[in-house]
Amino acid sequence: MNLWNCKVWKPSHFSLNSLAFKCLALVVLALVLRAVLLPTFSGVDVKGKLVVSDINVQPLEKNSDYGIRRNKFLEVPQIVWGLNNQKIAFARACLTARMLNRTLLMPSLSASLFYKEIDQLQPISFDKVFQFKKFNSLCNGFVRLGRYSELLNQTDVQELQKGSGRKWTSVRDFEQLKEFSSDPYDQYEVVRVVGKNPFLWHDHWPVKDYARIFECLVLVDEFAREADRVVSRIRAAGKEVSDKQVLVEQGEGVNGENSKLQVMPYMAVHMRIEKDWMIHCKNLEQRSNITEICSSKEEIIERVGSIKELNKPTIVYLAVADSLLEDKTILSGWQEGLLPLEKKKLGVGHVYDKYPYLIKSAIDYEVCLRADVFVGNSFSTFSSLIVLERTQKMMHSGVLSSCSNNIRWPSYAYNIMGDFNGPRKWLTNMSDTSLQAISYGSNHVTC
Ligand SMILES: *[C@@H]1O[C@H](CO)[C@@H](O)[C@H](O)[C@H]1NC(C)=O
Ligand SMILES: *[C@@H]1O[C@H](CO)[C@@H](O)[C@H](O)[C@H]1NC(C)=O
Ligand SMILES: *[C@@H]1O[C@H](CO)[C@@H](O)[C@H](O)[C@H]1NC(C)=O
Ligand SMILES: *[C@@H]1O[C@H](CO)[C@@H](O)[C@H](O)[C@H]1NC(C)=O
Repeated sequence: MNLWNCKVWKPSHFSLNSLAFKCLALVVLALVLRAVLLPTFSGVDVKGKLVVSDINVQPLEKNSDYGIRRNKFLEVPQIVWGLNNQKIAFARACLTARMLNRTLLMPSLSASLFYKEIDQLQPISFDKVFQFKKFNSLCNGFVRLGRYSELLNQTDVQELQKGSGRKWTSVRDFEQLKEFSSDPYDQYEVVRVVGKNPFLWHDHWPVKDYARIFECLVLVDEFAREADRVVSRIRAAGKEVSDKQVLVEQGEGVNGENSKLQVMPYMAVHMRIEKDWMIHCKNLEQRSNITEICSSKEEIIERVGSIKELNKPTIVYLAVADSLLEDKTILSGWQEGLLPLEKKKLGVGHVYDKYPYLIKSAIDYEVCLRADVFVGNSFSTFSSLIVLERTQKMMHSGVLSSCSNNIRWPSYAYNIMGDFNGPRKWLTNMSDTSLQAISYGSNHVTC
């Protein structure tokens, strides 16, 4: 029997129903066993979930007396480029503020994906995309975001000019930050970083610190609802398929009650095959002398079709660039039992069309994050951050990260060959000392 089905019993059934009692006993036994067998258990996190940490991962910072100063601020340049470059840049700004024991003044993100002309990067306030209060409550005691209205004195500002060039090493950069965390700089109300955007700053923090901040980023309701809508469309499409299959197998009507309770699993594939990417990745392969960066459409389809653990039929949600939505061929060539869908075919094209680049990307990110199986490219920041959050989610659910176990939330990298010609299993190494691999892509996928 499935232990977790026990969760549906109601208290009133308790004394009457011996099954409920057995269930409770099993749950208690499981919890006791888990506590005994997993000595790395480190408590309950801010969301009330169990936190199990790797041997190498330090327990999360408790809401102890560590306090970020509420009357000293850090200001950073506008945050730019892709959604995930922006998330990384934002987290780096937060961690810099934390090092200086300062509140980060809520930065501007960029709604458009313009690379060259800074003045065309439509600024969008952080709180238009992510929940401001929720961020501070989830990250309480770790980092803090503030508003410009909290400033007492607009002129009490000390600029911090970020160095650049080859001579500006990581060590020098760190020395500068240390200098700014002591007097006389420490007394200024605001330290304003000028120069490069935070994605280009040197990185001084371990992966788990970034992960801690990504967890505090919750989409505002409007966009979260759009993501819900897309996910439920995908699940509805999956249910339709499985109902048909049950009909065929049983030769009769479906038991409506049962199938309504089921949540239909789906797979998401982040397909990077658009022209710009193909040019970029070929260049990268030449420059870095690594062959496993680019994957053609055919290679992706073949590798995804070779994943052994998949239950078929299954819906495959294709997260692709807008330009590929006109390309009908991405929907063909998939193995029997894999039913590909993209935004247009799902009938949610209009949802996406309403929004600027950043929001579209954030919705797609949610859809991939929640997928039962995710397949992406290990050289994509988008894919890498999804795998990081999925690894984190898996650890929160009480599973020690493992490549061999048939775990929940599995992820794969299609650009690297794995077992049986399939894609390689992919986990983020949460004890890595820097985010380098995730920021710029790598073929180290831990598994
Ligand atoms: C940060 O500031 C708070 C509040 O002033 C103080 O209690 C704490 O010791 C400071 N921490 C560090 C690391 O400077
Ligand atoms: C604001 O800060 C400036 C620079 O530190 C200082 O000269 C000035 O007296 C401050 N004004 C007030 C009202 O505190
Ligand atoms: C590229 O890698 C191959 C095999 O790993 C090696 O033989 C070759 O010398 C490398 N070329 C360069 C330019 O580093
Ligand atoms: C994870 O990262 C740590 C620190 O860099 C390293 O010691 C360890 O070998 C890595 N683990 C894997 C499985 O790559």
